[in-house]
Amino acid sequence: MKLWGGRYDVDTDALMHKLNASIRFDQRLWREDVQGSRAWAQGLHRAGLLTDEELAALLEGLAQIEAEWEAGTFALHPDDEDIHTAHERRLHELVGAVAGKLHTGRSRNDQVATDVRLYVRRQLDQLDAEIRTVQAALLAQAEQHIDLLMPGYTHLQQAQPIRYSHWVLSFFWMLQRDRERLRDARSRVNVLPLGSGALAGHSLGVDRTFLAEQLGFEAVSPNSLDAVSDRDFIVEVLAAAALLGVHLSRLAEDLIIYATREFGFVRLDPRYTTGSSLMPQKANPDALELARGKSGRLIGNLTTLLVVLKGLPSTYNKDLQEDKEPLFDTLDTLHDLLPVMAGVIETMQPQPERMRAALDDAMLATDLADYLVRQGVPFRQAHHLVGRAVAEAEARGVPLRALPREVYARIHPALDADLSVVFDVERAVDAKQAIGSTGRDAVQVQIENARRALQAT
Ligand code: ARG
Repeated sequence: MKLWGGRYDVDTDALMHKLNASIRFDQRLWREDVQGSRAWAQGLHRAGLLTDEELAALLEGLAQIEAEWEAGTFALHPDDEDIHTAHERRLHELVGAVAGKLHTGRSRNDQVATDVRLYVRRQLDQLDAEIRTVQAALLAQAEQHIDLLMPGYTHLQQAQPIRYSHWVLSFFWMLQRDRERLRDARSRVNVLPLGSGALAGHSLGVDRTFLAEQLGFEAVSPNSLDAVSDRDFIVEVLAAAALLGVHLSRLAEDLIIYATREFGFVRLDPRYTTGSSLMPQKANPDALELARGKSGRLIGNLTTLLVVLKGLPSTYNKDLQEDKEPLFDTLDTLHDLLPVMAGVIETMQPQPERMRAALDDAMLATDLADYLVRQGVPFRQAHHLVGRAVAEAEARGVPLRALPREVYARIHPALDADLSVVFDVERAVDAKQAIGSTGRDAVQVQIENARRALQAT
């Protein structure tokens, strides 16, 4: 019999049951559903609605259900619609009629909202630790290769020389903001909906502050209508996760390019590449391609939920059951992806000779302009003059540093000088000492700050 079957004299259509049932995916909420039920039973007891014996029986039954899940022996029944009905059915089998008292004043609407919040709260803590592991791998690369220089790009065209560490750390800070966003979302996740009933609250005197304490929630939802239908806490998590996915995808894209034979800036560990069934020479960067590809589903999951929510009338509607699959998929995807990304980063080997060989003199054109600026030439004019030197060098097929001095002298008298200091890549990079720049000292400060950010809880 369905737990809501009182007014019905026919069975649900079998295909309708299949469509309606969420047990297939919400059974993973078993732990939180037991947790919530335990708190509610205690709340009912304190309100005088359960005797000591009844409370003891319910708690014993719930403990048994928990033990069955832990042992992998909890048996689902074909009629179980969702995790809440499955538990109520099993509780009946275990403790008899008193099981019917547990749902007093409670609705699956406030129950499911409570379960999902408890679940997301736990998941966020795991996610934070996983992102940290990726950050730690990035930081280790930055520390180990502090003196390594490489070309920096804009428009994927060589722009200015930078430190490899500086490039690596740029992703550290993106992930740091992702962690901050998830942590910020956590404070809005950590609010108790239980006690909101189906939509209007309850009249049975169960103390919601007590429930919040029992379940470790920081606040009690202020409006029952909102509490049973609010899924913005999930939207926030999916949005932060989608953005995290975008950051991982961008890192993956850089690395895919840098790992090509043409660039050869990094070598990926064979544990994270795969071969081709046809071409024996291949080592494909599949881990990174999947990081790039999976960002698509993370974005899709956010979009799915936003579209489900838009246009819903107040308050609970069954559409809301569609919140779970995108949420679970996003969390599962990240739990799979983040440790692999950490592994890819930990084991990748930058290739100094290839980076060095790619450092073309043209990337020092800006430094040459800066040199003129220090000689009193307005920057706009300096830019123009150096542009002429670049064109001249290109026409002659030589690097900038190899243009004869008289050519430079003809372009501007201030260039009639020993320009070798300008064409010193190390010096050019290390001169960038403003906060957040690529100079050695500035990157060292960045590394210190990154260490501190990782240590902070
Ligand atoms: N499985 C449902 C969900 O995930 C539980 C809530 C059902 N509530 C209801 N009034 N039918 O949303």
